[in-house]
Amino acid sequence: MKIRFLGHAAFQVLEDDTYYLFDPFLKGNPVAQVSPEQVRADYIFISHAHDDHLGDAEEIARKNNSLVITTFEVGNMLAKFGVRVHQMHVGGTYNFDFGRVRITQALHGSGVPGGLACGFIITINGKTLYFAGDTGLFGDMQLLGEIEDIDLALLPIGGNYTMDAADAVRAVQFLRPRRVIPMHYNTMPVIKADPVRFKNEVEAQTETECVLLNPGEEWELK
Ligand code: NI
Ligand code: MN
Repeated sequence: MKIRFLGHAAFQVLEDDTYYLFDPFLKGNPVAQVSPEQVRADYIFISHAHDDHLGDAEEIARKNNSLVITTFEVGNMLAKFGVRVHQMHVGGTYNFDFGRVRITQALHGSGVPGGLACGFIITINGKTLYFAGDTGLFGDMQLLGEIEDIDLALLPIGGNYTMDAADAVRAVQFLRPRRVIPMHYNTMPVIKADPVRFKNEVEAQTETECVLLNPGEEWELK
């Protein structure tokens, strides 16, 4: 499984010739290395509708005929633009052709009236990925760590809008993933964080390996 960091909270995952895209904020993203026209996506996961997450989802979904997997409220908004959506909600799981998706809570705003922000736990070919979205630290990450066997967690560390690096270390202790990749930092001054310090603290305090990716970099989850 190939994990490509597109910058901020945007990731592209490739497994078995299928492309999975998370929170594709590319146009207007100061650290993005690719444009929406260059990105392939069979499935697009949207955690919430803030601009830095919804991003270019509509354009990419139209061009690729992608299926967007998101919450009910964000799905309604995208469906109005003619995008194919599969709507789920927090706590729900569903078995897709490619694998299983669980929608997790995220302590954050949704960007649409009456909605909730979310995260995703996705299992494809026996590999389980947790994309936390924008969230503050919450105690039920411990529960997620108990009921899911997480191979890779993607966690925000930038503070201000989400967990900071210290809270994200605690999140790693709760989730017990095999690896963690930090996201949602250093895109703009208000979410400044030191990823090397985060890595050192994670690896000193937990059994988890921390992988640091620069925008545009790819890493293989084995
Ligand atoms: Ni947000
Ligand atoms: Mn954000």
